[in-house]
Amino acid sequence: MTRVFSGVKPTGNLTLGNYLGAMQRWAAVDQHQADALFCVVDLHALTVEHDPARVRRLSRQAASLLLATGLDPELCTVFVQSHVDEHARLSYLLECVATDGEMRRMIQYREKAVRERERGGSVRLSLLTYPVLMAADILVYGTDEVPVGDDQAQHVELARDLAVRFNRRYGYTFVVPRATHPTVATRVMNLQDPASKMGKSEDVGPGIVYLLDEPDVVRKKVLRAVTDSGREVVYDREARPGLANLLEILAACTGGNPSELSGVYESYGALKKDTAEAVVEVLRPVQERHKALCADPGYVEEVLRDGAERARAMARPTVDAAYQAIGLLAAAADIEVTAQG
Ligand code: TRP
Repeated sequence: MTRVFSGVKPTGNLTLGNYLGAMQRWAAVDQHQADALFCVVDLHALTVEHDPARVRRLSRQAASLLLATGLDPELCTVFVQSHVDEHARLSYLLECVATDGEMRRMIQYREKAVRERERGGSVRLSLLTYPVLMAADILVYGTDEVPVGDDQAQHVELARDLAVRFNRRYGYTFVVPRATHPTVATRVMNLQDPASKMGKSEDVGPGIVYLLDEPDVVRKKVLRAVTDSGREVVYDREARPGLANLLEILAACTGGNPSELSGVYESYGALKKDTAEAVVEVLRPVQERHKALCADPGYVEEVLRDGAERARAMARPTVDAAYQAIGLLAAAADIEVTAQG
């Protein structure tokens, strides 16, 4: 069975962009068709200035939201990265396979490092090595497919490169993974600035719809989305990015096709109204389930405990094999096991 792994970072409130760009498909497709793991990647939240209490709160919230999107612990494994030591252990080995030049070329590092420096802050070393930890997240489970938004394509590509290089140097150890992207609305843009992504790390903004926004807040944000000059509804990402964004959001929410939908609407107003309602309807069941889960924190904790246990059992043999292959001496207890088995 295909092994699937993906993760969400608890650094901000999750957005419609995260949902339509990736999460929706995890629950609807991946958990049914594959042996899937979904992880709250909390170690990644420490790569930029952070507040410990906030990271804890957002990690809990991200876990609840993963379940609220419809992930079923009977069908897939939901867990928190820091509960499984193997990620960090493998990350170090992969640092011994990656090069510093490779890290400095990563687009997301360059963008974030510039932003941190502009703010007068320093750049944490872990921000540079972030993609290696992400590669470890993926490779430690023998992952075949990584369903992510297309902004993560370069990082998954690095994971592939590191797997191939490690295998070539030290013998076959890792499955070589590949990224998969949803067909529409891979990249939901900011409603007030359709040139930039609807990310979750930015501050609260009127152009970002959060998964936990009240219906009226969602409506207001969508109705106030910037559109382009012109009056006809046409689907043209280059010339009419604001409009294209709305059409793509509507298409992703309703299972339609953006260019076909553009033919249905005569005015921007009607398109916005329908898009707003479509988003409200998509978020409604997620918000209802999230509310129920918040009322039952013991359940979420139990899911995470079981998830971590299952994940550890999958990760351990891969890390053992990698330690052996790269030349580390097996510890006495391991030798006994190896001698017997
Ligand atoms: N870097 C991803 C993001 O910013 C989060 C992530 C960390 C991830 N490790 C991963 C995604 C492994 C997929 C697989 O969204």
